[in-house]
Amino acid sequence: METKKKNGFASGIGFILAAAGSAVGLGNLWGFPYKTATYGGAAFVIVYLLCVLFIGSIAMIAEVYLGKRAQANTITAYRKTNKNMGWVGMLAIIIPTFIICYYSVLGGWTVRFTVNSFQWNSANTNAVSFGSFISNSYLPLIFTFIFMGLAALIIMGGVKNGIENASKILMPMLFIIVVVIAIYSMCLGEGVGAGLNFYLNPDFSKLGFDGVVAAMGQAFYSLSLGMGIMIAYGSYTGKEIKIGKSAVMICIFDTLVALIAGLAIFTSVGHFNGELLKPFIDTLGEYGPVGQYYAVHPSLSGVGLMYQTLPLVFASLGWFGKIVSFLFFAMVVIAALTSVISLLEVATQFIIQKFRIKRKKATLIMAVACFMVSIPVAWSVGGAFDGAIMVFGFDLLTFFDEMTNTVLMPVGAFLSCICIGWLIEKGGFIKRVNPMNTFRALKEDGLELGWFGKFFAVMVKYITPVLILFVEVAGIIGKITDYRVSKGLNFWWVIGASVLLLAIGIAIYFIFFSNKETGCNADELEIEGANA
Ligand code: PHE
Repeated sequence: METKKKNGFASGIGFILAAAGSAVGLGNLWGFPYKTATYGGAAFVIVYLLCVLFIGSIAMIAEVYLGKRAQANTITAYRKTNKNMGWVGMLAIIIPTFIICYYSVLGGWTVRFTVNSFQWNSANTNAVSFGSFISNSYLPLIFTFIFMGLAALIIMGGVKNGIENASKILMPMLFIIVVVIAIYSMCLGEGVGAGLNFYLNPDFSKLGFDGVVAAMGQAFYSLSLGMGIMIAYGSYTGKEIKIGKSAVMICIFDTLVALIAGLAIFTSVGHFNGELLKPFIDTLGEYGPVGQYYAVHPSLSGVGLMYQTLPLVFASLGWFGKIVSFLFFAMVVIAALTSVISLLEVATQFIIQKFRIKRKKATLIMAVACFMVSIPVAWSVGGAFDGAIMVFGFDLLTFFDEMTNTVLMPVGAFLSCICIGWLIEKGGFIKRVNPMNTFRALKEDGLELGWFGKFFAVMVKYITPVLILFVEVAGIIGKITDYRVSKGLNFWWVIGASVLLLAIGIAIYFIFFSNKETGCNADELEIEGANA
């Protein structure tokens, strides 16, 4: 009988909730609804569901398994599939660290919206003060700091007492709030039907190939795939966890929250008929670089939806709206917080295991470093200092976001599928071509998936990587033309910067870590308080 892990998640449900906490985030509450609105309602939703089913769930199983079988940080995990693959683990640390630097800026905005919910009067709603808030040179930093600090505090508590316990409280809370808000919005009366119609009637003419590419990107992003997160969390699970079932539960939870958030948002926006947003679109110019942000980012409805349309909806509900506003933004803070925790954990875990330093110190180092980088990001997207902080005509948030979502995350997900699908198995190429041999090899290796195993082997070996590659290339080509034609910007800079980052990551790995021990689980290391 396997003894229970001393460190790591105490229970299977704890792991599922923590992983779902990572998955459910701004991507569900904000990204999903606005992309659905852009690409033809249910037409987008159908493609999105297919992506979760055939690409997301497969990559999810691959990543959790990578972590579970290694019981260690991402670099060690990849090395344990093949001794030459450790560099992929380095990328899996760098990409999420990069995401923190803009995600926590958005998280900070949301904290401020929550706090501010009770303060506004009809002339000064969150929506009205949005522009002046984000272009302020220090306020957004304070809120980013608070947000990052909260995440760091929870991580310092350890995997079991910090991450798992926080998720066990926060995730059910989030679920209840999103359901309550959805029910409330559906009872708003007039216009609700029109909103539902917009959401649930597929308009395939708006989908296009762009929509398909967006759906896949959204699936990766929403499920937190393509970087080290699910590997790191997987490494804290013990023998008792069933990977297939857990992965399915995580995917279902994540998708459910997105679908319900869609219900809430489309019905309430339907009720207010979009009229409320109009004056804001007219005054966008005033926001200077922020206006430019809207112009370069394919998400006027994006930023607008969460930070402007909804606050206007809340304002129109009078004092009751303040409560709804508070609930809504508290929910977004919870969602974003549990996501940033997972992003921060990947590098923290590596630092603890490799350098054998204490968890508190490792967390502090990471949080401070990420906060420093988030400062110029906050200034850049908010347009502080007259919008002086831009790169190649992009604000930093858009730039980082495009780098990670369009280029880097699919690369990460592709590599994780290749490692599980091709490298665990031994034997010559001819033997390996047959996925049924892979199925047997994975089973021997310890991946027990029941009837799903054979399907998984075929998918992870051939279909999922090919789909990812195809959509990645198509997505990049689309962006290159799209940005040049409609926004006058050169997407090649994004690609160049991504390649540079990949090269730096790989170089760091080969210079510093390739010939050395890269650390293992705290159960073996007995680092004081490492994962408790
Ligand atoms: N999955 C999160 C969301 O939907 C975002 C995220 C991406 C978190 C990548 C961690 C890693 O918002």
